[in-house]
Amino acid sequence: MQSSIPATLLALGLSLGLCATGAAAQDEVKIGFIVKKPEQAWFINEQDAATALGEEKGFEVVSLAGEDGQQVLSAIDNLNSQGADGFVICPPDVRLGPAIVNRAEQYGMKVVTVDDQFLGPDGEPIASVPHLGMSGYKIGRQVGEAIAAEMEARGWDLDETAALRISNNELPTAKARTDGATDALLDAGFVQDNIFDAPQQNTDTSSAFAAASPVLSKNGRFEHWVIYALNEESVLGGVRASEQYGLSADQVIGIGINGSGAAFAEFQRQSPTGFYGTVAVSSTMHGRQTADNLYTWITTDEKPPANTETTGTLMTRDNWQQVRADLGL
Ligand code: GLA
Repeated sequence: MQSSIPATLLALGLSLGLCATGAAAQDEVKIGFIVKKPEQAWFINEQDAATALGEEKGFEVVSLAGEDGQQVLSAIDNLNSQGADGFVICPPDVRLGPAIVNRAEQYGMKVVTVDDQFLGPDGEPIASVPHLGMSGYKIGRQVGEAIAAEMEARGWDLDETAALRISNNELPTAKARTDGATDALLDAGFVQDNIFDAPQQNTDTSSAFAAASPVLSKNGRFEHWVIYALNEESVLGGVRASEQYGLSADQVIGIGINGSGAAFAEFQRQSPTGFYGTVAVSSTMHGRQTADNLYTWITTDEKPPANTETTGTLMTRDNWQQVRADLGL
């Protein structure tokens, strides 16, 4: 009898302990972080930063890929079955916005976008979904200004210089970025007729390479090329195409946007390539801030700001390590 008392107490203690663990597990906030290009350094960094914040603050982040509409919808189903409270998403196509919002609403999940903002059926941004992304036009202008400065430093003749504009006009942030770069170049005296579009189907290196190659070969009369696009992955595709076409590094000035692993690898090559630089933006901040906004919304019911725009810093071979450290990349 005497020995059964501690056993009972032990059992009681154990079951209380289990209850407490069960309650904590149920209370723990869980969010998804769905990205369109899970293999790109920019998005890996966003997801890692969100996960690290969750570890600090005590919520769980489930990182998922959403490379097309089908995959996004099953990622949301998957999150729902895991009991997630909401998700951050960079959608593979901004026109999927209404379908994604619908699915989230069905499940009572909160949704915020990062990088690429949802468009409604009217072609306008869906203002009810909080968004955080680059100030595309301004960052694009920085690209154009940096290209113009480097052209001048190299003493290039404007009549012999062409621009390879790798475009993605279906994606508003992409169009804003390339428009900004174009305007800054024109303001610096670039010849409008020397700007050639290479429309890419996607936002990655291989689609940019495929888009760029025919444009270069059709316009063989130019001595020099400048290359810009919505991101550095795409500019790298253009630079690789220029190499294949036979242009040397000193005939090309490519400037990207992002400041992620793709650019770091290029800066670490023994000799410079046509990839001159990139306007770096903190993907760490994008990942942390959107996860934090969503977590706050879930836990305090305070809705995040409708639209937050982030800024960038020019990164070249000369300063990339410093800028990388400054931006926490
Ligand atoms: C888009 C691009 C990414 C990155 C983000 C940043 O999603 O495809 O490479 O530039 O914007 O906002």
